[in-house]
Amino acid sequence: MKVLVTGGAGYIGSHMARTLGEQGHDVVVYDNLSTGHRESVLSGRLVVGDLADTAALDALFAGEKFEAVAHFAAHIVVDESVREPIKYYRNNFVNALNLIDTCVRHKVDKFIFSSTAAVYGIPDRVPVTEDALLLPINPYGASKRMVEQVLRDVSHTTGFRYVALRYFNVAGADPQARIGQKYKDATHLITVSLRAALGLRKDLKVFGMDYDTPDGTCIRDYIHVDDLIDAHMLALGHLARGGRSRIYNCGYGHGYSVKEVAGVVRQVTGIDFPVSETGRREGDPPALVADSSLIRAELGWVPRHDDLAYIIKTAWEWEKKLYGRDEKQIKEKNR
Ligand code: UFG
Repeated sequence: MKVLVTGGAGYIGSHMARTLGEQGHDVVVYDNLSTGHRESVLSGRLVVGDLADTAALDALFAGEKFEAVAHFAAHIVVDESVREPIKYYRNNFVNALNLIDTCVRHKVDKFIFSSTAAVYGIPDRVPVTEDALLLPINPYGASKRMVEQVLRDVSHTTGFRYVALRYFNVAGADPQARIGQKYKDATHLITVSLRAALGLRKDLKVFGMDYDTPDGTCIRDYIHVDDLIDAHMLALGHLARGGRSRIYNCGYGHGYSVKEVAGVVRQVTGIDFPVSETGRREGDPPALVADSSLIRAELGWVPRHDDLAYIIKTAWEWEKKLYGRDEKQIKEKNR
């Protein structure tokens, strides 16, 4: 298929472009390189452009005849979304609307959308199912929920079909460490912990140890990026077969606490990096775990990497490569 991957130079989008290319699809990546990187595009052609530029989008769609779109381009930092809501509504909502509009006008009827567990806010029950109330507690989650609403409404009135995948905590990297998370100011737990292990930051600060969880720290469902990409490929197959619009949770169905994650990072790296305690971070639900039975039953999704040590190991290999550190240097630094 000829597939447009927006945000294909970013963390998750670059893994999608890689897999599409490896499986023989024709890939065009559309990315404004605001957080993405040219060298992360392993397959296909990179078009540098912005989703706000509707004329450029129109020209691209007129020239290329895409069969499907996988839309990854978005801002993703929750607390930034609280501080700069307009930035999030503009990029995550308005630009997605531009893209969906362009798809409809150019009769591209298959769309895969990167949604998020943040649409649930603080769920009443975990594992959370797709039919839970959507009560996002930050502009990031709200902007994604708004796009889901647009997708639902547009698919009711046109032949346009979509699969929205609600990601839980995506982590890990390409097994050959060719691509991975590349944000300089990463905020995600596993990346922050690995950078503390590399000595690039002083410590890992645990945001709150007084939650109502077994060890007092927050629980999350960490999913390897390649299992998430498998879910996208299955979603693409589903739409290609004429399947109807669907929304699926993507997570393993069990979680780890912040303390447990820090423990596995210590095991994998062999480095006893400093961990300190600080207050709760605003907007952190105590526990967020996916009920992923729907995607397993309907699309036959079977995770291959449901193993926190593997997730962390692939992220560790990537971080070492990104910062040009080898084991010897790291051991010497930590002696
Ligand atoms: N945490 C720390 N210290 C840190 C970083 C994180 O204690 O330095 C804790 C957080 O408080 C949270 C857990 O580790 O309890 C995971 O935090 P992350 O920032 O890694 O991820 P979040 O759960 O906040 O959010 C992620 C994505 C969102 C997505 C959400 C859905 O960043 O895009 O998962 O579950 F919406």
